[in-house]
Amino acid sequence: MIDSAFLIDPYPFYSRWRSRGPLHWNEDFCDGAWLLTDYADVASVLRDARYSVRRAGGWANSSGPGATTELRDFKRIFARSLLFVDAPQHTRLRKVMSAGFGPQAMLALAPQIQAIVDALLDRITELAETASPHFDFMGDFARPLPALVMAEMLGIDACDRAEFVAWSDDIAEFVGAPTPTMDIALRAQAGAVAMNGYFLELLPQRREHPGDDLISQLLAAEAGGSIISTKELLAQCCTLLFAGHETTRNLLGNGMLALLQHPDQWRNVIEAPALLRPALKELLRFDSPVQYTGRRLRVDVEMHGRTMKKGDLVIPLIGAANRDPAKFTEPDMLDINRNQGAHLSFGLGPHVCIGAALTYLEAEIAMRTTMRRLPGLALADDTHVWGNNAAYRSLDTLPLRFTPFEFRQVCRTSLP
Ligand code: HEM
Repeated sequence: MIDSAFLIDPYPFYSRWRSRGPLHWNEDFCDGAWLLTDYADVASVLRDARYSVRRAGGWANSSGPGATTELRDFKRIFARSLLFVDAPQHTRLRKVMSAGFGPQAMLALAPQIQAIVDALLDRITELAETASPHFDFMGDFARPLPALVMAEMLGIDACDRAEFVAWSDDIAEFVGAPTPTMDIALRAQAGAVAMNGYFLELLPQRREHPGDDLISQLLAAEAGGSIISTKELLAQCCTLLFAGHETTRNLLGNGMLALLQHPDQWRNVIEAPALLRPALKELLRFDSPVQYTGRRLRVDVEMHGRTMKKGDLVIPLIGAANRDPAKFTEPDMLDINRNQGAHLSFGLGPHVCIGAALTYLEAEIAMRTTMRRLPGLALADDTHVWGNNAAYRSLDTLPLRFTPFEFRQVCRTSLP
C-alpha cells in the first residue's frame, strides 16, 4: 500500500487480493491487520458493535518504540473524537453534533458556499484573461474550497486557512499511513496540538460573543446541560476541521478527473444538471476519497473460517467494497446512470459520515458553477499527480484548461 503503483491505481490490487479470498492477514499494516475486500463484509463490520472504533491509541503505538509516551498528546486529543469513541459516549456526542448538520443548517450555508465558489472561480477567470486559460484544479479550487467552507461553518478566520490545512495534512498523512514512522506521527501530533491550541484560544472569545456558527451552537449545548465537556468539544472542533476538508477536496479532484476522462458522461451532466446528484454518487463509488477505515475487535470473531482475535486491528477496505463485482456489475466502469444501491464511501452504521449532506451540497454547487462558468473545461494534459496517502486518495495537482472567449460570451448573456 506504499507502492507508487498502488497509490496511482489501487483497484487492480484490490481485485487481485479479492481473487485470493475476502479476508487477508497483513503483517506489515500497523503491526498486523485483517484486510476486508468484500462489500457485504465491509458493510456488516461497519454496523457491528463487536468492532470498536477506539483505535487511535493502537494506531499511534504502531509508529515505533517510545510511541506510547511520545504520542501522548495526539492520543489525548483524538481519543475524545467522534471518530474514535464507542457508544454510549458516541451516541451522546453525535446527538449534540447532529444539530449543526440538519437541513436548516445546510439551507443557511448554501449562499455562503456559492459566494466562496464564485470568488475562487473569479480568480481563475481573471487570471485567464491576462495570462492563460490553464489552472490547477486542486491548488486553485478543490484544495481551498472545503477549507474555506469549514472556516465559514465554524466561524473561524479564513486568513488562518493555510495554517489549519497544513495541520490537517500532517494528521491525514499519519492516519493514512499503513506503516507510520515516528517522524510522521510526531508531525501529526504537532498539528493536533496546534489545532487544539487554536480552538482553546477561540472558545472563551466565542463564549463571550456567540455567533450563529457551529462552535457557538456546541458551546450553547455545553452550557445547556454539560452534555459535552470542554475537552470533548475541542476534540470535535479538531475532528471537523480535519474531516471536513481532507475528504471533500478529494471528491472534487477525483470526481472531476473521472468525469473529464469520460467526456460523454461529462457532456450528459452539463446538458442535464438533474444528473449531477446521481453522478456524484457514482463518482463517490468509483473513486472513494476515503479508501479504508479501521476497527479493533472487542471479542474473538469467526469470519470465513478464520478466527480474528480480541484486540486485532480490522481494516474494512471501502475502496475495494465499492468495486465488488458481487454488488456492482462492471464495477470498474464509470456509469453516472448506475442504480445499484449505496456506495460505502461515507461509511455505514453509527459512525456514518455526519458531513454527507454538506458534502453533496458543496460538491453540487462547486460542480454546477464550474460547468457554467468554465465552458470547454478539459484536462490540460495527463500530468496530474497522485498524492502518497493510501487512506485519503487524493490528487496533488490536476491541470485543466477552459475556453475564456466562450466564458466572456456566457458572462454577458447569463450572469447577473
Ligand atoms: C467526500 C467527503 C467525505 C467523505 C468521503 C467522508 C467519509 C467518511 C467516512 C468513511 C466516515 C466513517 C468513518 C468510520 O466509520 O470509521 C466519516 C465519518 C465522519 N465524517 Fe466524513 N466524509 C466526508 C466529508 C465530511 C465532512 C464535510 C465533514 C464535516 C464537516 C465530515 C465529518 C465527519 C465526522 C465528524 C465523522 C465521524 C462521525 C462519527 O463517528 O459519528 N465528513 N466520514
